[in-house]
Amino acid sequence: MAQRRPKISVIGAGFVGSTCAHWAASKELCDVVLIDINGDSAAGKALDLFQASTVEGFDSRLKGGADYALTKDSDVVIITAGIPRKPGMSRDDLLGTNAKIVKECATQVAKHSPNCVIIIVSNPLDAMCHVALDASGFPRERVRGMAGVLDGARFRAFIAEACDASVEDVQAFVFGGHGDTMVPMPRYVTVGGVPLMQMLPKEKIDAIVDRTRKGGAEIVGLLKTGSAYYAPAASAVQMAEAIVRDKKRILPCAVLLKGEYGQNGLFCGVLAKLGAKGLEGVPALELNSEEKAMFQKSCDAVKELVEAMKKLGA
Ligand code: NAI
Ligand code: 2OP
Repeated sequence: MAQRRPKISVIGAGFVGSTCAHWAASKELCDVVLIDINGDSAAGKALDLFQASTVEGFDSRLKGGADYALTKDSDVVIITAGIPRKPGMSRDDLLGTNAKIVKECATQVAKHSPNCVIIIVSNPLDAMCHVALDASGFPRERVRGMAGVLDGARFRAFIAEACDASVEDVQAFVFGGHGDTMVPMPRYVTVGGVPLMQMLPKEKIDAIVDRTRKGGAEIVGLLKTGSAYYAPAASAVQMAEAIVRDKKRILPCAVLLKGEYGQNGLFCGVLAKLGAKGLEGVPALELNSEEKAMFQKSCDAVKELVEAMKKLGA
């Protein structure tokens, strides 16, 4: 008998969740289940996308609802449930509300798909990874957060524009937590193999780094009623693809550090190898003293947030 398609469930069928379902199904990566407390909305979006598949010509079955039984034996689960930020709010303002939501979702996910790999998207990202790790009881290999791929995508887009180069030729990544202290790494950026430092003046690079750090807020300011979703969903699906296709991709994502970069027991963004087992390694990157200091500052900000969450009892 033919092997079944991989199964990806997406928890939270809002802007990011339904767009994840769209990208994943249209790439024929998997069958997709969409879950939301508003089960009818999830079911409606899944049905709508399934009907679109006949026009666009992709083979992927989509289902939706509120019942986690639909997610049974998923290979990957992307958790996007929670509230997004509005203008004037930081990602950290979402802490108490989203911690309760993510705890409930991760508990249900672990019950119905005990062998899956979880990708967290809900904000504040690094803190929500801690919630999901605790609630699922999974090892660090099977819980990681999506932020670095998105922040790196923004960095790459701005660089491609500034260099008038193809986005395909820009290699760039971002370390650290998903917040204002994130650490874009210009020293490691190349455009078609040429170091960025040789292509643009320092002031221009500094401006791109600053815009990258504020990339989420820039979009919140324009949308006014919520936050970005196309690039976040594409980024989460790229991570899911690396797992279901066992691609061994090296992507920046939030992982529980166990001694790497001098950090222990903290989720923070670093380069990680993603394959069928989930996290398959944390390649060591040499940081200079300035990068080390910025990464430490970012880890300290994540630590503060995790402490604040504990105080809230979340
Ligand atoms: P949204 O409001 O469009 O969707 C959230 C969905 O979660 C809603 O449909 C809501 O009904 C559902 N939900 C709420 N409580 C639930 C529960 N207990 N169980 C199941 N579903 C539940 O928000 P959007 O734009 O999709 O953003 C979702 C989250 O992702 C936000 O926290 C946002 O800040 C975060 N985000 C993170 C990014 C990252 O880089 N890590 C990037 C973009 C968004
Ligand atoms: C973003 O960076 C809101 O975290 C979300 O767009």
